[in-house]
Amino acid sequence: MKLIIAIVQSDKIQDVKQALRNVKVGKITVSNVVGCGAQVGKTDTSDGVITDGNLLDRVRFEVAVNDDYVKPTLEGIIEGARTGNIGDGKIFIVPLEECIRIRTGETGRLAIG
Ligand SMILES: Nc1ncnc2c1ncn2[C@@H]1O[C@H](COP(=O)(O)OP(=O)(O)OP(=O)(O)O)[C@@H](O)[C@H]1O
Ligand SMILES: [Mg+2]
Repeated sequence: MKLIIAIVQSDKIQDVKQALRNVKVGKITVSNVVGCGAQVGKTDTSDGVITDGNLLDRVRFEVAVNDDYVKPTLEGIIEGARTGNIGDGKIFIVPLEECIRIRTGETGRLAIG
């Protein structure tokens, strides 16, 4: 099991959600976050100056999946979020020790799926 965390541009929330649905991934958690990447803030397109220290609005997807869903989940996120420009976002893949469905007590792949 893996926990896939993706930080993407806020305006890509619907595209990523739809791309995940297309690969049959419907259980997701989404949060509004702020962050900065390699550019340490925003590139001002009007004069090309890179400003320091700005935390920009981003959206964070969390998707816990069984191993056979890792590849389609990654492909879906990338398809939904990628423009080819700086700031498209980043994906973190974290080993997931356990998942428990609170209602039934099911664990592991039964609880995730
Ligand atoms: N190493 C990191 N640790 C934690 N969060 C990160 C990291 N890298 C990126 N992020 C988060 O992802 C968001 C988007 O990052 P971004 O796509 O700008 O990465 P980048 O490394 O600067 O790549 P690019 O050159 O394509 O812009 C950041 O605003 C930040 O919230
Ligand atoms: Mg960046």
